[in-house]
Amino acid sequence: MNCSLFDLTGKAALVTGGSRGLGKAMARVLAQAGADVFLCSRHPDELRQAAAEIRQETGRRAECAVSDMTRRDDVQRLAGQAIEALDKIDILVNNAGQNAPQPIDQVDDATWDRLVELNLTSCMALTRALVPGMKARRWGRVIHISSIMGLASTAGRNAYSATKAGLIGLAQASALDLGPFNITVNCLAPGPFATEMPMSILTQAQQDALAARTALGRWARPEELMGPALLLASEAGSYITGTVLLVDGGALARVF
Ligand SMILES: NC(=O)c1ccc[n+]([C@@H]2O[C@H](COP(=O)([O-])OP(=O)(O)OC[C@H]3O[C@@H](n4cnc5c(N)ncnc54)[C@H](OP(=O)(O)O)[C@@H]3O)[C@@H](O)[C@H]2O)c1
Repeated sequence: MNCSLFDLTGKAALVTGGSRGLGKAMARVLAQAGADVFLCSRHPDELRQAAAEIRQETGRRAECAVSDMTRRDDVQRLAGQAIEALDKIDILVNNAGQNAPQPIDQVDDATWDRLVELNLTSCMALTRALVPGMKARRWGRVIHISSIMGLASTAGRNAYSATKAGLIGLAQASALDLGPFNITVNCLAPGPFATEMPMSILTQAQQDALAARTALGRWARPEELMGPALLLASEAGSYITGTVLLVDGGALARVF
């Protein structure tokens, strides 16, 4: 990485859900740019494999801990584990998330509560736990992984859209709290990225329809979120805060 605007040497990052998909791609680019990284997810084998790959490829420290972001005690413990392992966390990527489509008249309380805990509450709680150190160092980056479904929606995505829209409000409010400390808070809003999560809930016909909706006419590869994440994580994005960066191949540019 030649451009110093994107250099993360000396920084430490926590990426939730870093074991695969978009989280792994973002953890990889942060390490490529020079940051040490800490990953979490629920399945230890996949998680340790991801950390080992990143260590091997980049030569940076890549540590991990098994954590379930639907459990508040795990979330609190994770913040401490990450700081203990890397001495500090400068960059927080709140990426772990799930979808569980249910029409509004069939939303069950357990599913709603699980998605709210995972997609929204854990992001607030991790931010709350990690900003004191960022404030003391007068530098920090918080990146919430929202979705185009935080800005528009489709039938049945009630809990998902509500939580992803909630992240946008959270980013706006906390950007105002944290701006005086040189900490930026933003959302990335991906469109259709070919990862396990959407592929497991969409039929082939739905996948094709989503591709056709984008201006580029295709799904994105997880690596296509690396550049946008690095922008928001680095000095290159120093004046971007309280906003949403759409990375959707032009999907939301289309009205009909
Ligand atoms: N792919 C897309 O098209 C798309 C579009 C917009 C937004 N997003 C958002 O991008 C983020 C990443 O999605 P993805 O597509 O990369 O999904 P993915 O491939 O399913 O990866 C999800 C990651 O989160 C972890 N995770 C899931 N539940 C967790 C929990 N309770 N506690 C801790 N970790 C958990 C998973 O590991 P374990 O299962 O082992 O825990 C995995 O590491 C999500 O927030 C998603 O909403 C994705």
